[in-house]
Amino acid sequence: APALAGDIGEVLVSADEIARRIGTLAARVDADYAGRELLLVGVLKGAVMVMADLSRALRTPVTMEFMAVSSYGSATSSSGVVRILKDLDRSIEGRDVLVVEDIIDSGLTLSWLLKNLRSRQPASLEVLALFRKPEAITVDIDVRYVGFDIPSAFVVGFGLDYGEHYRTLPFVGTLTPEAIARGPRV
Ligand code: PRP
Ligand code: MN
Ligand code: MG
Repeated sequence: APALAGDIGEVLVSADEIARRIGTLAARVDADYAGRELLLVGVLKGAVMVMADLSRALRTPVTMEFMAVSSYGSATSSSGVVRILKDLDRSIEGRDVLVVEDIIDSGLTLSWLLKNLRSRQPASLEVLALFRKPEAITVDIDVRYVGFDIPSAFVVGFGLDYGEHYRTLPFVGTLTPEAIARGPRV
């Protein structure tokens, strides 16, 4: 078993289910962007796993950029305060941009990010998020590609962290009450 797998209470989405869903989403992206080149903008650090798997599943030619914005720190709920920790290296003006996220929770990070990116005048700007929680559906953001709608429980794995740990788990699951009580492993 992967490191820290013992801290998982329940697996909500298995590695197989994630792989299949990313394949399906990649096929939709390929169909939508046929004949174009896509700029994938991954949101560090959570999006690294979906970015790696999605980009390799696509047939569309892509380039990659990364941004790091943080609204969480080490807490388990969103503060609404977004900071740019790392900006894009290049201009996105005139580019077809697809923002790649692991999860939309409150939607605050993404709504701030989309406003920021839109001001840089891309030719198009869409979002792919592997996971979305119910609360996010109430925010006014148009997410073109969603992998899974999941319940509001705090979940880790496939990029999602608790105190920077658990990102490398190949599935998404809840933590045991003991692991939560122990606190983030920082
Ligand atoms: C997490 C997650 C999303 C964001 C979603 O990132 O990866 O980027 O929070 O939350 P929201 O919809 O409530 O704004 P985090 O800020 O924890 O940084 P990380 O990706 O480095 O873990
Ligand atoms: Mn993130
Ligand atoms: Mg995080």
